[in-house]
Amino acid sequence: MYLQIHQTSEEASQAVADLIIHRIRAFSPTQYRKFVLGLPTGGTPVRAYEILAERCEAGDISFEHVISINLDEYVGLPPTHEQSYVQFMEKHFDIPPSQTHILPGIPITPTPNAMAIPSSSGGQDNNSPLEAHQASCAAYEALITSLGGINLLFMGIGANGHIGFNEPGSSFASRTRVVALNEGTRDANSRFFDDKSKVPTHALSMGLGTILDAEEIVVLAMGSNKGDAIQRAVEEGINHMCPASVLQQHARVTIVADGLASSKLKEETKDYLGSSQSLYSGAGLLNDSTHHQNRIKANLANGTTLAHVSHDNDFVVVVEDRSADENAGERGKPVITLLAKGDIQYESSEDGDDPHCLPGL
Ligand code: F6R
Repeated sequence: MYLQIHQTSEEASQAVADLIIHRIRAFSPTQYRKFVLGLPTGGTPVRAYEILAERCEAGDISFEHVISINLDEYVGLPPTHEQSYVQFMEKHFDIPPSQTHILPGIPITPTPNAMAIPSSSGGQDNNSPLEAHQASCAAYEALITSLGGINLLFMGIGANGHIGFNEPGSSFASRTRVVALNEGTRDANSRFFDDKSKVPTHALSMGLGTILDAEEIVVLAMGSNKGDAIQRAVEEGINHMCPASVLQQHARVTIVADGLASSKLKEETKDYLGSSQSLYSGAGLLNDSTHHQNRIKANLANGTTLAHVSHDNDFVVVVEDRSADENAGERGKPVITLLAKGDIQYESSEDGDDPHCLPGL
């Protein structure tokens, strides 16, 4: 997990837009090899979408060979409803509808009373609204598979730690499905509706398992109301009561937060998770989605210095863990973390010129 903290929400939005542009460019999508971009709705992504539209207008990036796929949609809202995510995307994200995929809030083949969500005990006949929604969700999963998976999934985060509409308690193995919205989420989203009674009670959402399958994930968090969720997701243990904490298990996640959303994180967390920021600048290996990062830990004897590091990689980042053994009254063994694409050769000052090789993973 990497953490980028920006002072302002504008800078954070800019950083996410930059990351998206960088990944699409590095991928070089073509008509035959499209870039699949997962997208959120809500207040968080709006400025990032504006920046992407400006950069597209300026010719910095093209979405011609990009397919977008949304995380979720409210149950019961037709695509014409102004708060449907179909309308949201049309308004905020400038990509031809033919390249956009959004879960249908009303099943595509309408069934009688499609707005109703039956109780879990009832409505299991073949034409029930629930079954129709479930069929849409299964089709969405099949669609993602047929697209070759999601290359980059951009997400916001709920104040209760939800991602997509996976509310606290969601299974980490969950797939795209019908979910009940938490009352806190309905309260938060009532700002987009005339009043809370108009906020749908259910949604269709990619599951946590679906999200974890994305090749890379970027989460944008802005504002003090996201501070607790970010702290729990990043610093506390993985717990399904904070669904975003499951991202700790994903190999390639960046949390981009503004000062307020990151205000509850410990300084040491910011130092450690922010220490790989250089990976994102320049033409580093993480900018190339075809290369995976190798993280190699070497426990070196006290006093060892890396006399020479040679490698065929784009670059190596060395992070020193300062976990000194204070009880023993001496500095503990430094733990060096090398991040690189392939094998790393090094010589240490301790044992002359004998080269060591840390194999890439
Ligand atoms: C929306 C979504 C949600 C939102 C979250 C934050 O598509 O997936 O998880 O990202 O509820 O919403 P905002 O950005 O309005 O604070």
